[in-house]
Amino acid sequence: MKALVLSGGAGTRLRPITHTSAKQLVPVANKPVLFYGLEAIADAGITDVGIVVGDTAEEIREAVGDGSRFGVEVTYIPQEAPRGLAHAVLISRDFLGDEDFVMYLGDNFIVGGITGLVEGFRETRPDAQILLTKVPDPTAFGVAELDGEGRVVALEEKPEVPKSDLALVGVYLFTPAVHEAVRSIGPSRRGELEITHAIQWLIDQQRDVHSTTISGYWKDTGNVTDMLEVNRAVLETVEPCEDGTADEASEIIGRVRIEKGAQVTRSRIVGPAIIGAGTVIRDAYVGPYTSVSEGCRIEDSEIEYSIVLRDSSITGVRRIAASLIGRGVQVTPSPRSPAAHRLVLGDHSKVQISS
Ligand code: DAU
Repeated sequence: MKALVLSGGAGTRLRPITHTSAKQLVPVANKPVLFYGLEAIADAGITDVGIVVGDTAEEIREAVGDGSRFGVEVTYIPQEAPRGLAHAVLISRDFLGDEDFVMYLGDNFIVGGITGLVEGFRETRPDAQILLTKVPDPTAFGVAELDGEGRVVALEEKPEVPKSDLALVGVYLFTPAVHEAVRSIGPSRRGELEITHAIQWLIDQQRDVHSTTISGYWKDTGNVTDMLEVNRAVLETVEPCEDGTADEASEIIGRVRIEKGAQVTRSRIVGPAIIGAGTVIRDAYVGPYTSVSEGCRIEDSEIEYSIVLRDSSITGVRRIAASLIGRGVQVTPSPRSPAAHRLVLGDHSKVQISS
């Protein structure tokens, strides 16, 4: 069995953090979301992995390399434009050959991995197997309609009026039957070859399409509340370590990872939290459910339940909570006079000021 990981697409679709970079590399607990997918694939015993890449190919290649750090062998499959998930399958035909495969969307996060799912598929081998999850707003997803016995009767891509609240999760299992399906469909209203249409084609041909409903699913929709929540859930499971240094005057409480080269001085860190490599924390408080990426500086400040991306600094500010701070950002108090908020905010930024 092989895996096809979709990490193409333009680098421009996502707000608020990935204007300029691949959305599959958005970090959860300081690790790109794509890495969790690759680890889940490796854990399921799959080593032959094709990664479909687009505009952000260089960034993805730089992050993932040849796959050996995940215990897999990666073949990169360039897609010249994001023409749809079924198009990605179409252009991967040579890589996939006649093997069964799992298709994994690189911006999806499945709590608990996919091992059980892959094992179940190997035993029963339906033509296709999809994953579903209940979501509050199904209009942003593919949506499934099931009959009384739980069989999939219809799928619709981003319907205006959804027939259920069951969204398609971005993990699909296929036998080679899908190749005929992706060749048989035409572009959708949004001009893409939709995998949803290919699966509907299989259903219409009376092929065997199974569904499994899961909980514990996340996808980066640019919703900061969701991102903080998935970060929280993953931080609960990280292994504590002290590869960096914390001085005697600091207090480290609970599950805390202090990564290589990080320095904690006269500070209090209450886990679960991660302090990224080379980050400096001085005279500061870092509270629960906080991920600080590499190369940051938090000085004379307090922060909790937040994500700080790399090379940012926070100096003399208290208290930051429930916040997502991008890369290379500087947060400081404003000068005493004139008493004013001074802001340089990127496009689509959102600021809440407590004064
Ligand atoms: O995430 C689940 C949803 O993914 C499903 O509910 C939908 O049915 C499915 O169509 C898909 O919808 P999105 O519109 O959210 O897909 P998106 O364009 O974000 O692409 C998903 C991943 O696939 C992402 O990592 C980029 C990659 N991709 C996307 C396209 C369109 C490619 O590699 N090539 C492509 O042509």
